[in-house]
Amino acid sequence: MTAKGGVKMSAGERLILALDVSEHDYAIELVEKFKDYVGIFKVGPELFTSSGPKIVEDINKKGKKVFLDLKFHDIPNTVSRAAIAAARLGVYMFNVHASGGLEMMRKCRDSVVETCLKENMERPKILGVTVLTSISKDVLRDEVGIQHSLKTHVKYLSGLVLKAGLDGVVASAREVSIIRNHYGKGFLIVTPGIRPSWSPPDDQKRTMTPREAIREGADYLVMGRAILQQADPLKAIELITLEILAV
Ligand code: C5P
Repeated sequence: MTAKGGVKMSAGERLILALDVSEHDYAIELVEKFKDYVGIFKVGPELFTSSGPKIVEDINKKGKKVFLDLKFHDIPNTVSRAAIAAARLGVYMFNVHASGGLEMMRKCRDSVVETCLKENMERPKILGVTVLTSISKDVLRDEVGIQHSLKTHVKYLSGLVLKAGLDGVVASAREVSIIRNHYGKGFLIVTPGIRPSWSPPDDQKRTMTPREAIREGADYLVMGRAILQQADPLKAIELITLEILAV
């Protein structure tokens, strides 16, 4: 199957399972249970803060890729040093907030490229987070203070990410088509806020179904609660996979 992004992947490879749990052993149990159905496992702040870097090593030992979702947002020097640490850990992808600015993103990329060349390591993919999927257009305007539309802001931040030389963005599936149309096929688009028709939105505001997200051109779907909070998570993965395959 080829999405608009042009990357050929199976339905399972497109799935990123968010390990939003706090115990190392439970997370590894989940990896063991789902590793044949999911391409990448996402380690976020909860799991990383409670389990430490060992969780990444242990997921890699199971032969699986890790998306380190710590959304770095700091001064250029601090972010680039954290990025080097992530690369040395062996993560497959990690992210920074695009709103940290061009200099921060460029320094992050350059430091990772240089370190990986010097130390003969595989370079992780670096993504820029645009606007969180839990942020509505009203919150973006009234609380964050951005006066142009949410779509315009996502487009603007995506352009900055591309200019900085990062590999792609994290965005809501609702903004995929605008990003794809402006920045082309090679730009990775990772979409959280995915909800099949049979699962509740929880705190996510800008959601889409797996079918819609893939149809719009997303490369990867990040999914957590819609899988892990089901009575039968494997059945949920099967339904999601079938939905992706039907596109
Ligand atoms: O449970 P749910 O599928 O909503 O989980 C989505 C995951 O994606 C969470 O781990 C969340 O931290 C992450 N995420 C997000 N929105 C972003 C970036 C990451 O929901 N913009």
